[in-house]
Amino acid sequence: MVELHRPKGTRDFLPQDMERRRWLEGRLRGVTERFGFGEIATPAFESTELFTLRSGQGIIEDMYNFKDKGGRDIALRPELTAPTMRLYVEGLLGAPKPLKLSYFGNCFRYEQPQKGRYREFWQFGAEILGAKRALGEIEILALAHECLASSGLKDFVFRIGHVGVLRKLLSDNGIPPERQSPLWPLIDKKDFEGLRAALAGMKIESGPILAVLESRGGREVLQKVPGSGLEEVLDGLSLLGVGDYVIEPGIARGLDYYTGMVFEVEVPGLGAEKQVCGGGSYSLSELFGAEPVTSTGFALGFDRMLVALEAQGAAFPVRKIDFYIVPMGPKEREEGLRVLAALRKAGRSADIDLADRNLSKALRYAAATNASEAVILGEDELKNGELTVKNLASGQQRKATLGELLK
Ligand code: HAM
Repeated sequence: MVELHRPKGTRDFLPQDMERRRWLEGRLRGVTERFGFGEIATPAFESTELFTLRSGQGIIEDMYNFKDKGGRDIALRPELTAPTMRLYVEGLLGAPKPLKLSYFGNCFRYEQPQKGRYREFWQFGAEILGAKRALGEIEILALAHECLASSGLKDFVFRIGHVGVLRKLLSDNGIPPERQSPLWPLIDKKDFEGLRAALAGMKIESGPILAVLESRGGREVLQKVPGSGLEEVLDGLSLLGVGDYVIEPGIARGLDYYTGMVFEVEVPGLGAEKQVCGGGSYSLSELFGAEPVTSTGFALGFDRMLVALEAQGAAFPVRKIDFYIVPMGPKEREEGLRVLAALRKAGRSADIDLADRNLSKALRYAAATNASEAVILGEDELKNGELTVKNLASGQQRKATLGELLK
């Protein structure tokens, strides 16, 4: 016999998992709708070039890519910002701006799997194209914040930085852009020891750079990074009621299309895979052959949000089925099917015993499948035209007509 397993880093989702996932998805979609975003969907696979164009061949290591039967280089999408920009350049250049787009989809990265890090995972995200820079950033930060807050997530840390001023900081300290690349991963990982060594190797004084990278706090920290323009963004956030952020100029972000404001959200209790959201302002349209357009966005790590919510003991709503019908014999089954159809047609959720089991076994099954009430159909019930309805939580029984149940 062949043993079949799902591929490394992937997961199956059972009905109870999907119930939570659909609940969170609905919650997040409700927020983007309230904020006036329109949802898009793009293919799960794209030309590999879409992702290497900006990030270089190095990103191939982190992707699922292959040649299709027509010899095309294809990659499973590792994220949804580049696909969104491709869609924009291909079909939305003439659309009224600003464009407010949201998405929810699976992404694929060839990573070493662990809790909170998968090879197939889901991102829920949004992008704003063509807004006035600061206004778009205010809206995107407020949206990300509201998505996290309305999911019920507690204790998340919202960190805001600016890679533009970070690049300038390095240039001003004698490191021109073409020599900066090796430093970014160290900054991103907050490996300040490694950074100090790398700067020493480049004969650059590390003190002034580290003083900025290690700073963290409220609005006053912006004084250390003049020219970010973040003051205006923070003013807007405060008017929208968002004040629980940390300014952290050392945020580097792993992806290299960012040019301005960047932000990350983490849930410290999650351990290594604590980052539940990442985003910022970037430029990609020129690279894809279009005019420059201000672009800002974020993606929530949907799976990590669920891990965090579960760890925090969040009360996920449990979907109940209103009625579970238990017919006691073949005649009663016929009537049971009529009752079932009437209930379903009236918009109530209803299920019927499909295993032809005795009453006590059927009731146990009904309780296990989260039914609220069992509708018992025996000889007496058929004769009297009344149904016995048993509340499966309290055990209490009552008599009711079908008309009463339909209400
Ligand atoms: P990112 O930081 O690479 O940004 O991914 C966003 C989020 O996806 C992360 O914060 C994390 O929660 C989740 N994530 C990433 N990799 C995995 C994984 N292997 N397993 C589970 N969750 C994961 C982006 O992808 C950008 N496109 C965000 C963006 C949108 N920037 C501007 N617009």
